[in-house]
Amino acid sequence: MNFGIIGAGNWGLNLIRNFCKILSVEKVIVCDIDRKRLSKVKSEYPGIKTTENLDTILNDNKIEAVVIATPAGTHYDIAKKALSRDKHVFVEKPITMKVKEAETLIEISEEQNLTLMVDHILEYHPVVLKLKGLIDKGVLGKIYYIYSQRVNLGVIRPNENALWSLGPHDISVYLYLLNEEPDVITATGGVYIQNKKDIEDTVFLHLHFPSGVDAHAHLSWLDPDKIRKLTIVGSKKMAVFDDMEPRNKLTIFDRGAEWTEEGGVGVRYGDIHIPSILLKEPLREACEHFLECIEEGKKPRSDGFDGLRVIRILEKAQKILERRNER
Ligand SMILES: NC(=O)c1ccc[n+]([C@@H]2O[C@H](COP(=O)([O-])OP(=O)(O)OC[C@H]3O[C@@H](n4cnc5c(N)ncnc54)[C@H](O)[C@@H]3O)[C@@H](O)[C@H]2O)c1
Repeated sequence: MNFGIIGAGNWGLNLIRNFCKILSVEKVIVCDIDRKRLSKVKSEYPGIKTTENLDTILNDNKIEAVVIATPAGTHYDIAKKALSRDKHVFVEKPITMKVKEAETLIEISEEQNLTLMVDHILEYHPVVLKLKGLIDKGVLGKIYYIYSQRVNLGVIRPNENALWSLGPHDISVYLYLLNEEPDVITATGGVYIQNKKDIEDTVFLHLHFPSGVDAHAHLSWLDPDKIRKLTIVGSKKMAVFDDMEPRNKLTIFDRGAEWTEEGGVGVRYGDIHIPSILLKEPLREACEHFLECIEEGKKPRSDGFDGLRVIRILEKAQKILERRNER
């Protein structure tokens, strides 16, 4: 299978590394409008084919799939063109910047019987898969609430805010773990650096789900410290996933509190357990999953619909942010 990778920026380099390993350098052609980026790719992968012209990839019938790692605002146009030229598409998050656009991509992929996958990378993270198993088996009990912190100093984006840049990760995890969509969405944000463009540097997103679960995400690229943390509080156990930990990323606390028959509150301080999890690079898992879906005609875990349901939430939260900014 021959692949075209479009966008050789910071993240694109990770995709190039993975697909060159999985497929071999000879099967990959890289496109970027910036010649300097292509020189960097060539210096790291001697012999790799590159082009500044997207049509070189789109018009090549031997290229069966494209991987899109360009800025979010360009995803829709490039993905639509690629699907219309009969190519399977792996697109970075967010799938598009509008619900309507995501719907169009799904429609074309279904009509053409092509694989459309969005890189909701955390759905391929071994710790998230472990958490999903624990929740589905009822080990954590009834889930009360979830919150996550995705903060760091940078990467500051010029054309999308912290909600669109960072939010897809946490939202896709909430939807994957809970298997439901929120019925209440609220958001507040702060614009500090790019005032002229009203781009939020920090966003507090709050989702309420029909099952009663509340989920809250703190998203920011203006923070002193890099934190990638997800906490789940259930009636039986509590879990903390800290992705900055090199090895022991998941901790399960046998802790809780409940009313006792005597009418008082019983607080349980039980054991703390660190499950053994075989850590694999989530991006590698996602890339291999894409290939497998194409070969076996399977629906990706993070297919176009998964991308769409994330965009639905982002679009609603964005409207709320804009209304608040008008006040
Ligand atoms: N899944 C993840 O964990 C993750 C992490 C970081 C970024 N991303 C996503 O990856 C995408 C790229 O992010 P980045 O940080 O690499 O950005 P970047 O700005 O570093 O790279 C984007 C590259 O795309 C190129 N480009 C722009 N328009 C193009 C076009 N029309 N045709 C060809 N090339 C074009 C630019 O020249 C640049 O080299 C974004 O959608 C971002 O949301 C995902």
